[in-house]
Amino acid sequence: MIAKQGLEGIVATTSSISSIIDDNLTYVGYNIDDLTENATFEEVIYLLWHLELPTKEQLQELKNQIADNMELPKEVIATLKSMPTDKIHPMAALRTAVSLLGLYDDEADVMEKEANYRKAIRLQAKMPTIVAAFSRIRKGLEPVAPRKDFDIAENFLYMLNGKEPEKIEVEAMNKALILHADHELNASTFTARVCVATLSDVYSGITSAIGALKGPLHGGANEQVMKMLTEIGSVDKAEQYVLDKLSKKEKIMGFGHRVYRSGDPRAKHLKEMSRKLTELTGEPEWYDISVKVHETFTSQKPLPPNVDFYSASVYHSLGIDHDLFTPIFAVSRVSGWLAHILEQYDNNRLIRPRAEYTGPSLRQYVPVDQR
Ligand code: SDX
Repeated sequence: MIAKQGLEGIVATTSSISSIIDDNLTYVGYNIDDLTENATFEEVIYLLWHLELPTKEQLQELKNQIADNMELPKEVIATLKSMPTDKIHPMAALRTAVSLLGLYDDEADVMEKEANYRKAIRLQAKMPTIVAAFSRIRKGLEPVAPRKDFDIAENFLYMLNGKEPEKIEVEAMNKALILHADHELNASTFTARVCVATLSDVYSGITSAIGALKGPLHGGANEQVMKMLTEIGSVDKAEQYVLDKLSKKEKIMGFGHRVYRSGDPRAKHLKEMSRKLTELTGEPEWYDISVKVHETFTSQKPLPPNVDFYSASVYHSLGIDHDLFTPIFAVSRVSGWLAHILEQYDNNRLIRPRAEYTGPSLRQYVPVDQR
């Protein structure tokens, strides 16, 4: 048995949800460019969960179900308020709150298909509320209740800031949510599938996935990108900054990908959004620094930017705190995690690969007082 480090290139399951073929990304056969330009996040959620785009009635039903489930149990709000909010990362708060939600769901351990679908709706609906509530609580503000007449993108920004967002902000958030919704067998989705393949419950699967997304090699990279842009501070410093990092063999966050070779098809949308939004906010330097980092990095290494690179300046332009970037990734990706969890349950087999053993060969036990 020879191990393949990081399972690179290993095909671990079949899936009908999203595909990456020749660097093209599709959700159930629809090109990501097409969906980003034309769809709403709710249509994409329906597509991922039902493998078809919804009719008007089906879409309305999904929106109603989400709107009816956005409020958090009072116990979850109380726990968010009791957290050491000034010391913890919002991803840790989100991970804990999602696990806690399971305690207040009477169907948490009911494994019937319909019950799992109802849990999917509840989780998709409540995750934006958790992130927004945590953000307000740590600023000493009361959480803002969700509005039933708002879609997810609009509601999220509304609950975060306590005021109705501008149309352009809602459009940008809707596009960002679509672009992050699913991505084949990435690390967090794989984690969710491994977890529920033991026939564990949906809440355990999503809690595990949030833990995997948190790391800086995965979803956590978007926050690190903003940290880097802030450290650089001005365009004239960008080139030297990148060259210095590379000469020290340090990684530049937001570049490289396990699957893509010629480029991540999501990055161009985020780049354009970054250009427009930074211009609108009167802070074009964030886009200019990003472009300079991009140019310098790719002149040294043939690794194009991934989804996390330009999303950083997009979220910054929407006035979002930098440590909320990864939680927003989770608010979107939960749609994909849930699709994969439902698919896993439909055709389940325990996921249990092997390890190539590299430890000592057989040896004799020595009692503790003789060692
Ligand atoms: C996401 O998988 C998905 O689908 C994930 C995702 C999704 O939507 O779910 O697309 C979201 O997680 C995007 C990736 C976010 N992470 C980062 O931006 C962190 C920086 N990037 C890397 O650390 C890296 O590129 C990974 C983690 C994304 C991929 O890692 P791999 O496939 O294990 O590649 P590697 O670390 O083995 O790198 C191969 C080579 C190495 O050089 P050599 O040792 O061969 O000379 O490329 C170099 C690496 O040093 N390299 C980088 C680099 N990324 C790779 N060098 C500098 N900066 C980088 N960012």
